[in-house]
Amino acid sequence: MRTTTRLLSFLVVACATTLSLAQAPAAASATTIESKAAMCIGCHAIPGYQSSFPEVHRVPMISGQSAKYIVAALNAYKNGDRKHPTMRGIAGGLTEQDMADLGAYYEKQAKPAVADKPAKEPSAQVAALLQKAACVSCHGANFSKPIDPSYPKIAGQHPDYLFVSLKAYKAEPNNVVGRSNGVMGGIVKQFTNAELKALAQYVGSLEGEMQVKPQSRFR
Ligand code: HEC
Ligand code: HEC
Repeated sequence: MRTTTRLLSFLVVACATTLSLAQAPAAASATTIESKAAMCIGCHAIPGYQSSFPEVHRVPMISGQSAKYIVAALNAYKNGDRKHPTMRGIAGGLTEQDMADLGAYYEKQAKPAVADKPAKEPSAQVAALLQKAACVSCHGANFSKPIDPSYPKIAGQHPDYLFVSLKAYKAEPNNVVGRSNGVMGGIVKQFTNAELKALAQYVGSLEGEMQVKPQSRFR
């Protein structure tokens, strides 16, 4: 199934490239936002699309994430604070302008703003964990209104991805795994992996503003 999806997306990208080469006047191509985002579609715009590295998890939703956080994350891959090899390869080829354009483009694809209070109460265990590290004090009301736009919205993000990202801040960075971040690094070290998983499952189960927005270049 996964292979089929991957093959299909490859074909879609391949066909789209051929088509645009055939149809688009030369001047319209290389710098449009659609052409910049074309290289993201194969992973970020396919509902349910999974990555198998460093363990199987859904690829994070970026449609509806804040622009400044998207730029910060892309810079972290580019400068090596985040080790994920595929995203390092991708971000390494982006200019500051590309990142700013992509951030603005994806931020506009948000679902309607969520209420300030989560619709679902955490269990007593999760409530205590959230309290211990004051997650809301940075990620904001309902984990969707970060106090700084360079901090991520996390409500409703895929729980399996949230768990992988939390563990990445805890990992001793090596060449392929880990995220060096002064803020989150200190926070995750207070928790066991089982606790991080419980946090990820609760936050990921909430209604959020991000979505997987299927896109195609055939518009
Ligand atoms: C081959 C699949 C693939 C492609 C293509 C791809 N990404 Fe990613 N992206 C991923 C995966 C997997 C992650 C999670 C990496 C990690 O664990 O740090 C990710 C993470 C990200 C993040 C961080 C999200 C977060 O919540 O911290 C951003 C931002 C991002 N990608 C933007 C892009 C953009 C913009 C493009 C196109 C220019 C793109 N990606 C292309 C697979 C891909
Ligand atoms: C002092 C501010 C602060 C607090 C408190 C905080 N965070 Fe964060 N969090 C951040 C920042 C800043 C980032 C972005 C780090 C980066 O650029 O990689 C982040 C990133 C994350 C990410 C990665 C999101 C993604 O899309 O990859 C998750 C998940 C997360 N935080 C969850 C939590 C949880 C759960 C708590 C409470 C246990 C918490 N945070 C407490 C500031 C904070």
